[in-house]
Amino acid sequence: MIRRVPPRVSVLAVLVAVLMLGAGPAAAHADLVSADPSANSRIDAAPDVVRLTFSEPIEPAHSDIRLRNLAGEEIAAGGQPAQDDPFTLELSLAGDLPDDVYTVAWRVVSAADGHESAGRYTFGIGMAAGSAARVIIDESVSPLNVIGRWLDMAGAALTLGVAAFATLVWRPGLTQGLPVRNDRLRRAAVAGWVFAGAGLLVGLSANAAVMTGSSFPANLWDGSASGLLGSSAYGTVWLGRAGLWVILGAMLAIRRGKPLHWGMLSLIGLGLAVLPSLVSHARALGSADAVLNDMLHRTGAALWVGGLAAWIVVLLPAPDAPSAKSLSKAVSRFSNIARLLVMLLAVGGLFAALQQINDGGLLTATVYGRAAVVKGILFTGMFALAGFNVLVVEPRLKRGIESWPPMLRMTVGGELILAAALFVVSAVMASGLPAVDVSQLRAQADASNTTADGAPYFGMGIAGDVMVHLEVLPGRVGANEIVVSPFVLSDSNRALTDATRVQIRAASPDGSGPELTFDAQPSGDGAYVVAEAQLDQAGTWHLQVVIEQAGADDAVTEFEVTIPLPSS
Ligand code: HEM
Repeated sequence: MIRRVPPRVSVLAVLVAVLMLGAGPAAAHADLVSADPSANSRIDAAPDVVRLTFSEPIEPAHSDIRLRNLAGEEIAAGGQPAQDDPFTLELSLAGDLPDDVYTVAWRVVSAADGHESAGRYTFGIGMAAGSAARVIIDESVSPLNVIGRWLDMAGAALTLGVAAFATLVWRPGLTQGLPVRNDRLRRAAVAGWVFAGAGLLVGLSANAAVMTGSSFPANLWDGSASGLLGSSAYGTVWLGRAGLWVILGAMLAIRRGKPLHWGMLSLIGLGLAVLPSLVSHARALGSADAVLNDMLHRTGAALWVGGLAAWIVVLLPAPDAPSAKSLSKAVSRFSNIARLLVMLLAVGGLFAALQQINDGGLLTATVYGRAAVVKGILFTGMFALAGFNVLVVEPRLKRGIESWPPMLRMTVGGELILAAALFVVSAVMASGLPAVDVSQLRAQADASNTTADGAPYFGMGIAGDVMVHLEVLPGRVGANEIVVSPFVLSDSNRALTDATRVQIRAASPDGSGPELTFDAQPSGDGAYVVAEAQLDQAGTWHLQVVIEQAGADDAVTEFEVTIPLPSS
């Protein structure tokens, strides 16, 4: 049976609603919604500007458009936000472009959730472009981002959850025989402050790595990370969280040796728990309901998991150990709150999952979906242990059986370990591409699998930790430039610049003649280039790209490149 909701819980709900007022609407995933000139179009007059509109507001300072001609020469690069339209990025073109086929390559960072997306398409001036937009699907997750998010949540749990436990669960029991545990709970809150601080640093560095291509930890002091603070939505939210963290630190220092104001601590912990929702997948969905749900979900998680951590802290061995009977009442108080939280987490979690996974097949076919399945399993384990505590442990404590408090410590410890793993999986989901976006991008990619006459070829392959982008320009019979751009997946997609050798082996479509071998030369910007590869037959070439690195296995990726005859 669910008892009366404690007044403090309703206060929390009101606070969450107040914080929500800061969250305005945004659109869906940062896909390209419209382009001018449009993909595959043939236009007769040279445009003055390339204008791309996305489904989410973008960070202009961290986004760009590049225009190349069929020979692969870069014609223009950069991009400014359109006036009064945060969804649109424009690249101004100087002078009249000659008739040719052009490739527009874009890379944007969403202001809604801080995630990056990229793609390319071609259009022709005075001639047909023919190829559909090329879509890059990057489901990789930055480990640094996951660590940052894990630390954020651990910090919020140890402040909000511990403070709520101290007020709602432990303090009422002080008159019923529970010993004072202020010092231990305070130390847990200090640990929360340390976790939150580490989460702020790691998260900022991880986002700077995505937005500016810089690397951890140097970007924390070389200006790349601080550059985000004034120039991105992520940076603004980060400043708000950092402000709360400073206040929390000051409060813990000033009240050293004195009782803590648990109410104040709850408020700060609540802020730390909910602020990340303002740059999240929920925010990118563009509905206030989704953001409110994300905030409630994160609040519920912090309260429950922080409460479990507080239990461990108070149950650690001590000379004044609490009696089984006095503990049973505290367990009952905690269970009543936890029941509400578990319901909130399950209902809100399913609501969020249905928005991000719109087809059951995606549960196994995407990283996001698989993470959601693992999360469901971990949640079931936590639920089972919590049920054991309510149905088996609590009645025995109530009967005063003194051998059961250690059992309580063990089951709560088990729940806490599962919760720590659950935070990892949640952070993986929040850091990667939602399943629904992967499925949309796959559909776009399927529709653009053909390379028609005169269009550059673009393909992507992954070997171990290396992702390879391969471009063949102009992508028709004759002399072609082949550009290989390798990236390190586990290092926030850093460009791999230290390959000892990049070799391309090309087998011709009819299998006649020897395999062609080219050594690509570093071009200085993270790419390796074969300036003039003679692909002298129409048809599908089999290209093998071998990247050699000191101290690592060769990364070998394969591509099927269809080379058409030149147009007459
Ligand atoms: C039926 C159970 C649950 C489902 C279906 C579920 C689903 C979700 C979904 C879809 C998200 C959004 C991820 C994104 O931003 O793309 C999320 C976030 C999150 N969930 Fe759950 N959840 C469940 C239970 C829990 C539980 C029990 C906890 C913790 C005890 C938890 C902790 C979190 C956290 C911390 C986040 C935010 C991650 C971040 O932003 O870094 N969830 N959950």
